Amino acid sequence: MKPTTLALAAALAALAGAAHAQGAKLKVGLMLPATGTYAALGTAIENGFRLYVDEQGGKLGGREIEYVKVDDESDPAKATDNVNKLVKRDNVDVLVGTVHSGVAMAMAKVAKDTGTLLLVPNAGADAVTGPMCAPNIFRSSFSNWQPGYAMGEVVAKKGHKNVVTITWKYAAGDESVRGFKEAFEKSGGKVVKELSLPFPNVEFQALLTEIAASKPDAVYTFFAGGGAVKFVKDYAAAGLKKSIPLYAAGFLTDGTLEAQGADADGLLTTLHYADSLGNPKDNAFRLAYAKAFKLQPDVYAVQGYDAAQMLGIGLAAAKGDVSKKAEIAAAIEKAKIDSPRGAFSVSKSHNPVQDIYLRQVSGKENKLISVASKSLADPGRGCKL
Ligand code: BEZ
Repeated sequence: MKPTTLALAAALAALAGAAHAQGAKLKVGLMLPATGTYAALGTAIENGFRLYVDEQGGKLGGREIEYVKVDDESDPAKATDNVNKLVKRDNVDVLVGTVHSGVAMAMAKVAKDTGTLLLVPNAGADAVTGPMCAPNIFRSSFSNWQPGYAMGEVVAKKGHKNVVTITWKYAAGDESVRGFKEAFEKSGGKVVKELSLPFPNVEFQALLTEIAASKPDAVYTFFAGGGAVKFVKDYAAAGLKKSIPLYAAGFLTDGTLEAQGADADGLLTTLHYADSLGNPKDNAFRLAYAKAFKLQPDVYAVQGYDAAQMLGIGLAAAKGDVSKKAEIAAAIEKAKIDSPRGAFSVSKSHNPVQDIYLRQVSGKENKLISVASKSLADPGRGCKL
């Protein structure tokens, strides 16, 4: 850290301590997409976060929560300005965000430089808990590698040999495919073609024609949000669903089934959540979420809920004083987080160590089939903590 940045960080920490002493509200900077292909994901995360805070009477670590919101538009080009607005203009105590991996990397850089506590409630960018890892950065979601790696093992076990991959060309798509390829090729399979298009483009037709011509045993994909809805519909409309099995990281069918309808039926995906887990925590969460928002929750809602739980655990240990960074980090590091997905803890690099489920779409649900990978930990490559 540069001396000026250090001085600023120290001044902010002193201000945070003083605000805490005067019983001020804790300012949570929510940086999420409210527009674009990932807008619904941002809403679900915020709903989940607020649900947990409301269940605690509106307080975490004894402090009332005040939200300061920014629509990041899932636009990496605007990300540094957006996060700086929260940290430097609004003086938030904690950053929570975001969905898009490219935007999250900009958030991680600012969090690292300023020492602001950052909780990532979705974006899977491997770097956030890899080379960019830091004592003040935690993720409540997954790394892009995790669902991809688990699906690589599933597809190999099914006996498929040649696979074509298709995704958006940015960190999430690239890393999901990389995780898939690592496991699939280790088991003797071959990724014969890697297709991609720029985020958030949804003109899939030319690539679907290329898949049909390649005649692979199967296809692996990462898409999410509005793009996932269109991809599943286009895959079926092109006649491919009947001839070439489609496998995916579970984002393809999470929060999207209402819009995908019968075109998603039967699809197999891997993710750290499913709609039919049936554990007591999940049952209570699903009931409370449906009551509060008149909607069924999805994986994004769970991740938002768990980000708030993690913040609550850290703040309780620090008695609400956000300047006590070491106490906050130590408490989250040793916690078992009672998540609707099943209890999890974080790895040394601060990413969830969690079961990855194999799910199958049936009607409007991602039904649990089996545990594809038990307690799967991201390798945290490049993290020095
Ligand atoms: C990502 O950019 O990391 C991401 C976006 C949506 C769903 C999953 C991952």
